[in-house]
Parts: sequence; structure tokens; C-alpha cells
Amino acid sequence: MKSISDLGNLSGKKVLIRCDLNVPLDGDKITDDGRIRASVPTLNALREAGAAVIVLAHLGRPKGQVKPEFSLAPAAKRLGELLGTDVQLASDVVGESAQQLAAGLGDGDVMMCENVRYEPAEESKDEAERAELAKKYAALGADVFVSDGFGVVHRKQASVYDVAKILPNAAGKLVEKEVEVLKQLTTETKSPYVVVLGGSKVSDKLKVIDNLLKTADTLVIGGGMLYTFLKANGHEVGTSLLEEDQVETCKNYLAEAEKLGKQIVLPTDVVVAPEFNADAPATVVAADSIPADQMGLDIGPESAQAFANVIRSAHTVFWNGPMGVFEMAAFANGTREVAEALTKVDGLSVVGGGDSASAVRALGFADEDFGHISTGGGASLEYLEGKELPGLSALADN
Ligand code: 3PG
Repeated sequence: MKSISDLGNLSGKKVLIRCDLNVPLDGDKITDDGRIRASVPTLNALREAGAAVIVLAHLGRPKGQVKPEFSLAPAAKRLGELLGTDVQLASDVVGESAQQLAAGLGDGDVMMCENVRYEPAEESKDEAERAELAKKYAALGADVFVSDGFGVVHRKQASVYDVAKILPNAAGKLVEKEVEVLKQLTTETKSPYVVVLGGSKVSDKLKVIDNLLKTADTLVIGGGMLYTFLKANGHEVGTSLLEEDQVETCKNYLAEAEKLGKQIVLPTDVVVAPEFNADAPATVVAADSIPADQMGLDIGPESAQAFANVIRSAHTVFWNGPMGVFEMAAFANGTREVAEALTKVDGLSVVGGGDSASAVRALGFADEDFGHISTGGGASLEYLEGKELPGLSALADN
């Protein structure tokens, strides 16, 4: 993987860069601009080197259709504010508008193409279709390609993978930093190594749990996925989120952990409510006595304390996925306590993933409170699973 400094003199050159600007929106208001801020250092470095910059990015999953609610307009505006320059947004991805803007770029200028996922070929499984689109990206006049969208490097997509195959390329500063931290988590972990997993679906995290049972000392489980584990332990979970088809797998994990002498820590109490609603009456119940008409929406206070103690005594912590519905005040305590504990870790603390990153910011924590806040949820999990990430291997090949 080359660095941008290996690309030679970029003055007067056109640089095509893939960023991950997939930020959460409320209408057209960005609720967490973390990913946009994270893309600024590389863009500034390119501009300072005298390059003209063409940004490729996606927002949401428009699935090959042009849908205005997935426009990158809010991201382009915010990026312009952060860079202190106008970022012109093309009205298409590789059409006339993008071509015209790209042709008119001067040194240090920045433009953005519209959402790459408006193009059906971007995410196509057909290599030839993707390659065709990648050629169109390059034909915007690009001399080189910089991969800086860490959150999307696990996707084999035209603007991530195929374009790197046809242009001289390098990793941007964000991708370099993310990979460096994840390498530490896979090769130089200082014990105790605690992994905290939350979020809704066990099925999303199956492979990573497999791998983490080998590498981590303790797995702490919260979020929507904990109810499938409780069920695996023989408890009823009321109307909580449950993945029946994963109960057996969770049983196997619990057995495997015992065999390996690893700990899987589950909550002893949970906050329940009769419905998924911010104003629903919340009560704390024992994790093994969830009433049939109630759903668990957060870990309870006793569990939050216990989780915090495990985290604080670790020297390496990776956390992915909120502990409860942190967007609703009544169910945010578990996530807050876990975040707070991470800020106290004597060692490396990594917050991985879009949701967890948004959660810590929404709860008032600063990025500097943590060792590292990753911009990639799926990407960091897949890295920890030991999977090959197409967006990184394409770079290494060049
Ligand atoms: C993310 O939000 O994790 C990245 O931007 C990737 O998005 P995707 O899961 O829609 O590919």
C-alpha cells in the first residue's frame, strides 16, 4: 500500500479520491459529520500539493436509482465549510455535469460527483460492468487514485476496488491510520483484551465473534443481540429483538468460550418497556425475568456498572455497537456508561463503527476522549474477522 507521498509531484495533476461521506441525516441536516471531518486531512494534503481533486462518495443505499434524498449536497456543503473552499457538486456521477466540472478544475480546487450509488454498475456483481464504470471515473481526467473511504473498503465496488486496478494509486491518510490501529488490534494487543459488541443483529457479527473468541480475553455483549444470547441461556425475552435462527449458534459460542477459558459477559439486568417508544414507561428487571409483554431496550444499571468495570481493567478495548436505543434518553444509559469507561482505559481504546461513533458524539463525548474512533463499522469488523478487504487488496496489488 503506497502513501500519497509516493505518488510523486502532484502539482497540476488531477487526483480522483474515494471518501466515505456516508453521514447520518435528519432531512438535509447532518447529525454527525465525523466521517466528513475525518476526510479533511488527506484532502488538505492533496490541495497543498497543488492537485485538483475529484471526490467520489456514496450516501445511503439508493440501489442504482437517482433519488434526491440520497444526494450528496449536504455533504458537499459541509466539506466546503471544513476545507474553507467551495466544493462544487456535479448533478450526475460521470455524465456531462461531472465531466464539465472536472475539466474546469484548477490546482487546489475540489469537486464532488453525485452519489456513486446512483449508477447501477457501482455495486454490480458483474466485474465487466463495474470495470466499465471505473473507466468512466478515470476518464474524468484522473492521473492517480487515492483510496481514503475506509468505511467502504470492505465493498467490492467500482469506486473502491475496480478504479484502483486501472490507475496508479495510494492509500489516503485516513485509510493508513485506520489500518495501523486495526493492525495493533490483531497483532500487538496488550492483555486483558476486551471486546464489547452491541447493535441489533447477532447474524451481522457471527464471523467476528468466531475470530474474537480466539484473540480476545473477554467478550461483553449488549445491544439488541444480547436477547438471542439470553435465550440461548434458557431465558425468555418477552417481545425483545430475537433471532431464533441464531440461538443454537449463540449456545455454541457460550460452550466454546467455556472450553477456551474465555469469558462472555452478559447483562444481569435490562431496561424494558412495553413498546419501542421514547415515552414508553421504562422499568429495570432481572435479565432472566423479562415479562412476556415487555421488550429490552437497554442494559440495566447493574450491568452497565459491571461492563464498565471489565472495560476499565483492560489494556486493549474494541467496542462496536450501542448497548441500547441510545437515541432515546430513557435507554441511553448503558451506551453512555460503556463510552465513559472506554475514556478511562489505560491502553488502547477503539470505538468502531458508524453507530457507535455517532452514539459517543451524540452523548457529548469528544473524539479525543478515545484512543481512536474508527469511521468504518462493517469494514473494521471484517478486518478483525481476518477477511481480505477488496479496497485494500486492490491497492496492495498495484
Ligand atoms: C457504512 O456506513 O458502514 C459505510 O459507508 C458502508 O456503507 P454500506 O454498508 O451501505 O456499504
